[in-house]
Amino acid sequence: MATGQKNRMFRTHVDIPQKKRAQLVTLLNQHVAEALDLYSQVKQAHWNVKGKHFYSIHTLTDTFAAEVIEFVDDLAERATALGGYVHGTVRMAAEATTLPEYPMDLVDDMGHVAALVDRIGHFASSVRSAIDTAEELGDKDTADLYTGISRQVDKRLWFFEAHLQGEGDHE
Ligand SMILES: [Fe+2]
Repeated sequence: MATGQKNRMFRTHVDIPQKKRAQLVTLLNQHVAEALDLYSQVKQAHWNVKGKHFYSIHTLTDTFAAEVIEFVDDLAERATALGGYVHGTVRMAAEATTLPEYPMDLVDDMGHVAALVDRIGHFASSVRSAIDTAEELGDKDTADLYTGISRQVDKRLWFFEAHLQGEGDHE
């Protein structure tokens, strides 16, 4: 797809300059891709996890996946509200995501937790930096959306990380 076509913008009465809206839409589309990728990786763990902590990981991954798919919808609809065009299919997400691919052969519960912690940490850091980017582009609403996502992702990161932490893990 030609770049012009891919990044086309629609006219809107939202009073953020077109150039800034276009940058915000690019940012939001990036996180639509990351979040869709994260969603499928969390489900991959949900389906394949085995071990002593099967039930807690199976349940926690489902809770988190439901939240992540809501993030996708919120990010995509903010992009549309700004006059943008959403790139939200699995193939589009696969092309754009920067998350590392999920390992093909994980079985053990703690292996899944470690892989998820890595990827959730990556997503959390990218979302946190998007708060500032949105703010710099003059869009407090998008910054607020990212702030809400960031707070929830940090909380879930804790839920997963707590499985790996213990005495001796002090900073
Ligand atoms: Fe399920």
